Amino acid sequence: MLCSGHLLLLLASIPYSFLLKNHEEDEDEDDDLPLSTSQPSGDSAQNVPGCPAKCTCPTEETVDCGGLDLHIFPSNISADIQHLSLQNNQLQELPYHELSRLTSLRTLNLHDNLITSDGLPDEAFESLQSLQYIYLANNKLSVAPQFLPHTLRIVDLAANHLTCIYPLTFGHKPGLRSVYLHNNHLNNTGLSFDAFNGSDAVSTLILSSNRLTYVPQNLPRGVVRLHLQNNHISRIPKGALNSQGRLRELYLQNNNLSSEGLGHSTFSKLKSLEYLDLSNNNLTEVPAGLPANVVILHLGRNCLKGLPPERLSRVRGLQYLLLQSNALTTSGVHPEAFAHLRSLHTLHLYNNQLDGIPSGLPRRVRSLMLLHNQIARIGLNDFVATYALTELNLSYNRLYSAHIHRLAFRKLRRLETLDISGNMLTLLPAGLPTSLQVLNLQKNQLNALSPERLVNLTMLKELHLAHNRLQISSISPGTWHELHSLKLLDLSFNELSYVPPDLPESLEYLYLQHNRIAVIMAETFLTTHNIRVITLRSNRLLAANVSEMAFADLKFLEVVDLTGNPEPINISLLQTGRWVHTQMGT
Ligand SMILES: *[C@@H]1O[C@H](CO)[C@@H](O)[C@H](O)[C@H]1NC(C)=O
Ligand SMILES: *[C@@H]1O[C@H](CO)[C@@H](O)[C@H](O)[C@H]1NC(C)=O
Ligand SMILES: *[C@@H]1O[C@H](CO)[C@@H](O)[C@H](O)[C@H]1NC(C)=O
Ligand SMILES: *[C@@H]1O[C@H](CO)[C@@H](O)[C@H](O)[C@H]1NC(C)=O
Ligand SMILES: *[C@@H]1O[C@H](CO)[C@@H](O)[C@H](O)[C@H]1NC(C)=O
Ligand SMILES: *[C@@H]1O[C@H](CO)[C@@H](O)[C@H](O)[C@H]1NC(C)=O
Ligand SMILES: *[C@@H]1O[C@H](CO)[C@@H](O)[C@H](O)[C@H]1NC(C)=O
Ligand SMILES: *[C@@H]1O[C@H](CO)[C@@H](O)[C@H](O)[C@H]1NC(C)=O
Ligand SMILES: *[C@@H]1O[C@H](CO)[C@@H](O)[C@H](O)[C@H]1NC(C)=O
Repeated sequence: MLCSGHLLLLLASIPYSFLLKNHEEDEDEDDDLPLSTSQPSGDSAQNVPGCPAKCTCPTEETVDCGGLDLHIFPSNISADIQHLSLQNNQLQELPYHELSRLTSLRTLNLHDNLITSDGLPDEAFESLQSLQYIYLANNKLSVAPQFLPHTLRIVDLAANHLTCIYPLTFGHKPGLRSVYLHNNHLNNTGLSFDAFNGSDAVSTLILSSNRLTYVPQNLPRGVVRLHLQNNHISRIPKGALNSQGRLRELYLQNNNLSSEGLGHSTFSKLKSLEYLDLSNNNLTEVPAGLPANVVILHLGRNCLKGLPPERLSRVRGLQYLLLQSNALTTSGVHPEAFAHLRSLHTLHLYNNQLDGIPSGLPRRVRSLMLLHNQIARIGLNDFVATYALTELNLSYNRLYSAHIHRLAFRKLRRLETLDISGNMLTLLPAGLPTSLQVLNLQKNQLNALSPERLVNLTMLKELHLAHNRLQISSISPGTWHELHSLKLLDLSFNELSYVPPDLPESLEYLYLQHNRIAVIMAETFLTTHNIRVITLRSNRLLAANVSEMAFADLKFLEVVDLTGNPEPINISLLQTGRWVHTQMGT
């Protein structure tokens, strides 16, 4: 199903939890498992009389026999109990006469046993007219129970081998709210057409990791959260999602959806939809008719070649648009593709085939991920309208210093993080915004640093320059002069023959490993009183060339790494008033 080039693992910094939080407010509080399973088992003194051997009975209504390695159902359980917990045992069957007499039962917890469909006496449920919660996940059921009581609110049948659901398994249960069916073997044939008939309150339906080949047409009308990811879905039949006006979260990732498998109005009736995940499918076009309230749209890992005008710009509420790992080209992105998306603040375009910055970027975008493309130049006006940008990642492209316009960043007055690592830069970019806090230029060809390019960067906290070609002679005097906030300076994997002088006073972390440093003089760290960590691993230091005086006045120093030099080196650190030995040479 993955048809875009090479796959990049990058964790999207998206608060997936934010929708879920909203849901919790919607639902009644009693959705949680009413039976505490954390009761320590054993001969609890508080057991009420008549408690089955080894079980715990904190009240007359509750029997907890969880995790006792039981092979048979406990006999003689009081007929009046309301909550029975038997999870984590070895039960293969439930005897009809034991189960059917528990007529007051409200919660039946049987997850993590070995119960087969033959071992589950469906008829017994007919007498359990108070049952509200049944947990049967992680058993060996091959078909769902033919009948479950109409009083049910939550049914969990996940992680069984179910191939078939019957009309009265979930149907005709006006109070049913959550159905968990993930990790089973259900195909569309096994999900009877009237599976949810008369169960309009179902708001959570989890059908992920099954064998569905199309989106079922008999979905409950009130569903809020619908998970269909990890199936083999290649199409969504016309009208299948037309009655789901309450649906807020639709997961369809990791399926086989092609653009031909979607209609022009497939999603158009989903007025409440906020989160649509279509990633890792086989889409060649952005779906038409997306509803306006979608907040997060995940289209990553598909086969999109372009973005037409209109389609996306109708999704007025969009905040996160994830388009990574497709086949997007710069010319394929229409200049109007992002028009009107006033709330869009996060745009992921990484791992595509962009050779330049697409025009018409969303005006309010704050986080723009363009890494792993083939971007070869940044023009004068490429970022002229994206004044809200705070985070820009251009790493692993094909940028040369000469092809970045010296005024390209002039409008980015809120930019805090700029990553141009993994390109072909030989010089620091010109005109860097003074708001910058993190600048990453590692893995380039930098061979010169000069103060003009770092002027006024008084907010800069981190400067990453590892893996370049910097020599002491290529660092102009005064280079660090204005970096009053710099805390981290990474100069590792360069060609430095000694520690650069006049480092900023604010510096706390200095990385110099893998250079050619051969001497540490008494005054080397004279300006850096606040330094905490210095790494000098794998340089050319001999013990005789390291002055202990260099470290003597650094009262915050915690770590000096001198390993990997030609000979072992001992130094002492002054820390909280006493001398301690630190990492020694090997
Ligand atoms: C993607 O869809 C096309 C038709 O739209 C189909 O020929 C192809 O087999 C699909 N790819 C995969 C990996 O299923
Ligand atoms: C079951 O309970 C009855 C009365 O409560 C008692 O007489 C009987 O011995 C019990 N049987 C077992 C097997 O515990
Ligand atoms: C659906 O599953 C059932 C039961 O496993 C099987 O007999 C049937 O062939 C499957 N249908 C399709 C279309 O795969
Ligand atoms: C749904 O149930 C009603 C009875 O409550 C019945 O009349 C109707 O035919 C059923 N619909 C389907 C699709 O099974
Ligand atoms: C994906 O769907 C296409 C039809 O669009 C079908 O030919 C192909 O076999 C499906 N692939 C898988 C792995 O289900
Ligand atoms: C930019 O992307 C790279 C992945 O190539 C990642 O390692 C880096 O942390 C990103 N930069 C920032 C500042 O987030
Ligand atoms: C740096 O800041 C000073 C004072 O704010 C200003 O006069 C000067 O033009 C700035 N220089 C650059 C290159 O932005
Ligand atoms: C390192 O110390 C040796 C022995 O004291 C001395 O000959 C040499 O010049 C020193 N090297 C440097 C780079 O200071
Ligand atoms: C380094 O210090 C250790 C522990 O204080 C000591 O045993 C060792 O001889 C010293 N090595 C050198 C080369 O001074």
